[in-house]
Amino acid sequence: MANSIFISGTQSLSVCNRVSPNGLGFVGSDFNGNQFSKLGLSRTSYKIKTLAPICSISTSRPASQPRFIQHKQEAFWFYRFLSIVYDHVINPGHWTEDMRDDALEPADLNDRNLTVVDVGGGTGFTTLGIVEHVDAKNVTILDQSPHQLAKAKEKEPLKECKIIEGDAEDLPFSTDYADRYVSAGSIEYWPDPQRGIREAYRVLKPGGKACLIGPVHPTFWLSRFFADVWMLFPKEEEYIEWFEKAGFTDVQLKKIGPKWYRGVRRHGLIMGCSVTGVKSTPGDSPLQLGPKAEDVTKPVNPFVFMLRFLLGATAATYYVLVPIYMWVKDQVVPEGEPL
Ligand SMILES: C[S@@+](CC[C@H](N)C(=O)[O-])C[C@H]1O[C@@H](n2cnc3c(N)ncnc32)[C@H](O)[C@@H]1O
Repeated sequence: MANSIFISGTQSLSVCNRVSPNGLGFVGSDFNGNQFSKLGLSRTSYKIKTLAPICSISTSRPASQPRFIQHKQEAFWFYRFLSIVYDHVINPGHWTEDMRDDALEPADLNDRNLTVVDVGGGTGFTTLGIVEHVDAKNVTILDQSPHQLAKAKEKEPLKECKIIEGDAEDLPFSTDYADRYVSAGSIEYWPDPQRGIREAYRVLKPGGKACLIGPVHPTFWLSRFFADVWMLFPKEEEYIEWFEKAGFTDVQLKKIGPKWYRGVRRHGLIMGCSVTGVKSTPGDSPLQLGPKAEDVTKPVNPFVFMLRFLLGATAATYYVLVPIYMWVKDQVVPEGEPL
């Protein structure tokens, strides 16, 4: 808890007024539509009324910037391989059990009967923290990677959870479905993060709470370079803006990080903050968006895909090394001195 701090939404909201050039925002097609009927879950009120002005998030890093793994297909292949070692290699450096407890604390998991969705739940590491407070039978783990989910299915405490494939930007839950929406370390792969947060709002019941845990943007130049070519590392004010635009109230941001970073944030963090917001009125989000950004059914050039994938995976290697470097520094720099 030593590194925790809250920012309230109203303190740091910045206003966005940019309409996409064609006035329709993003173009694309459905990713997982067939899974709704397979799951027997309905979406009752997600009707897109286009032609209202559509606001894209203000960002100093435009969408055209080459982030090599902020795409669903690339994320799919990334996790095809990473899922094999994910729990043993990735989490210990970036997402420890005490960080998880710290990050889930603002989610108010205060009743074992809450209905919870864990979006981008992967191997179920965050879900293990959720089921400490909520009965597993009330928890749904959703992820686009069957390989990640296969690991979650092996975990004994998650045996009673519902485990489903799906897309964070197009959730197969009805409007006003869940008491809590949790998503940890997944937003960085969403081509359109505002859409995912809008979905979080839609699926929550009135009075329900979203808790989104994600990366924070580095300020140190080399880290910034690798972060920006790899995937999305939002700025703190961007999270708040996305939440408020989606319709959330009481938006709060809690800073988190591994203990051995001693609060250092200049290299960015893959799990750097826990953002929460409350849905106060029933129904869909007030935010209208156009079609999805990424058409995952469109054929891709395999050479371009492979090149992007390799460049993305190379940039990711830097972020395997950063926590090791910080850990060594923590060992050698005397306590009380800055890292
Ligand atoms: C870093 S892992 C986090 C897993 C888990 N939440 C945890 O705390 O360990 C990110 C997960 O997001 C999933 N993901 C990426 N894009 C997604 C999308 N559009 N819809 C659903 N899941 C997605 C990936 O498959 C991966 O399992």
